[in-house]
Amino acid sequence: MVREELVIAPMRSGDIPEILELEKKAPSAWSEDHFKDELQQPAGFQFVARNKTTESILAALFGRIVADEAEILKLGVAEFARNKGVGYQLLDFAVNYSSTRGVQNCFLELRASNEAARLLYEKRGFVCVGTRKDYYKEPVEDAILMRLEI
Ligand SMILES: CC(C)(COP(=O)(O)OP(=O)(O)OC[C@H]1O[C@@H](n2cnc3c(N)ncnc32)[C@H](O)[C@@H]1OP(=O)(O)O)[C@@H](O)C(=O)NCCC(=O)NCCS
Repeated sequence: MVREELVIAPMRSGDIPEILELEKKAPSAWSEDHFKDELQQPAGFQFVARNKTTESILAALFGRIVADEAEILKLGVAEFARNKGVGYQLLDFAVNYSSTRGVQNCFLELRASNEAARLLYEKRGFVCVGTRKDYYKEPVEDAILMRLEI
């Protein structure tokens, strides 16, 4: 595997058009307003991963920190940039960032059928701690709840 060289930085509102492009084929795509709202969240953190050479955005991650818990709300990697370690590097960055903010547990949910994401999270140390029956709509599907103790 050729590991993509990245620059990871906080997301700015000017990044939204590029992230919307990247999101077009995502399973639970967010709208422009949703991204704007999330950027305004006082408890939120948002990071983008850019190709070091071209500076184009390859991935984005959104999360929130409340007290000593973090939640990863969204992680998406552009289709053409997958399987090059981008998702792992961005997730690792967010976990390390959360750790510096005093987070002790990091949580996330994902569709039960999303094996690629589950394997990515397990690789970074997340473990399955439960399921939520029929949590997702269109199509209806169970959610797997994962946790990382930092
Ligand atoms: C899931 C996703 C974020 C993975 O990102 P990625 O950059 O392709 O993942 P990486 O290259 O960093 O892979 C890291 C690990 O994840 C797992 N993985 C990633 N893609 C995989 C796939 N298609 N099949 C099996 N395992 C996979 C592997 O364990 C891999 O480690 P390895 O290369 O040593 O085998 C990406 O496929 C994506 O954006 N999917 C659509 C959106 C989504 O499902 N987001 C998560 C919602 S919770």
